[in-house]
Amino acid sequence: TFLPRLYSGMQPSADSLHAGNYIGAILQWKKLQSSHDALFSVVDMHAITVPQDPTELREKTRRTAAQYIAAGIDPASSTLYVQSHVPAHAELAWVLNTITGFGEAGRMTQFKDKSQKQGADATSVGLLAYPVLMAADILLYKADVVPVGDDQKQHVELTRDLAMRFNSRFGDTFVLPRPVIQKETARIYDLQSPGSKMSKSTDSTAGVVWLLDEPGVTAKKIMRAVTDNDGVVRFDRESKPGVSNLLTIFSVLSGRSIETLENEYAGRGYGDFKKDLATVVVDEFEPVRARTLELLDDPAELDRLLAINADRASEIAEQTLATVYERIGF
Ligand code: ADP
Ligand code: NA
Repeated sequence: TFLPRLYSGMQPSADSLHAGNYIGAILQWKKLQSSHDALFSVVDMHAITVPQDPTELREKTRRTAAQYIAAGIDPASSTLYVQSHVPAHAELAWVLNTITGFGEAGRMTQFKDKSQKQGADATSVGLLAYPVLMAADILLYKADVVPVGDDQKQHVELTRDLAMRFNSRFGDTFVLPRPVIQKETARIYDLQSPGSKMSKSTDSTAGVVWLLDEPGVTAKKIMRAVTDNDGVVRFDRESKPGVSNLLTIFSVLSGRSIETLENEYAGRGYGDFKKDLATVVVDEFEPVRARTLELLDDPAELDRLLAINADRASEIAEQTLATVYERIGF
């Protein structure tokens, strides 16, 4: 049977995924993997657009892959692989670089933000070409559907532009992908500063719940989450960002609606609410943590799985690349 193809990925930029990655990305992937021919990549080639320690990068890459699997991405039915294991990504990216305008790449919001922060000399050409590599990731597999956070939407639009440009110059080759933007209800905020989204790259990680945190640490972070003084468990993103964020996490992980939760905790204050939330989060994350550690304990088996999956990805990617090379005159 024909299933639409889906491509998504995540950078191996921390030792552990956080609750935002899990709720915003992994849970969605898990849901979509049965109705799609899905590829999920650990994009280590994207990660090196900023300086990385080699030993740490290799370790983070394996840990990220292990967490995908532990969280329920099935490496038998989905293709779960490490980007650098499939050389076609770099090869197609080079071709696409040659049809991308310098100004066009320079106008990408994420590049502008990051390069302004770093300064021109600390900014690599790789960072400028990051969205072009992402276009290659997607187009290699002729993905129909690309789940992304809204910060990546512009990159999927560039991908579509490059696909159309290539198709019109060299003949119909690429499929135009459709971004699936993560729902606002799946956005998780920092427990200590609920005005900003939970991120691995914040200065203090006191408000970041890591998937691989020990249960006691997770519970403590939730009990210490910033709330407000009115003691009412009610969803109001504007004036009660802390409580609203906890309600989102509670609702997503328990499958109970925000309204149900508001009613259940009416007149009970934040203590009970946080304690129950801590239980829900620990019950969800603890098996994933345990399974991740198991997978990391058997490096040969993890490597075997990743190698099989990289072969599967390569098979598709090499076909696309061969067509591209033929069309451009190689
Ligand atoms: P980070 O912001 O921690 O660096 P990434 O940008 O690498 O995370 O995002 C990896 C994936 O996780 C993307 O699909 C992104 O949309 C999702 N994601 C990251 N942070 C959050 C969050 N706070 N809430 C929901 N989803 C998130
Ligand atoms: Na699938």
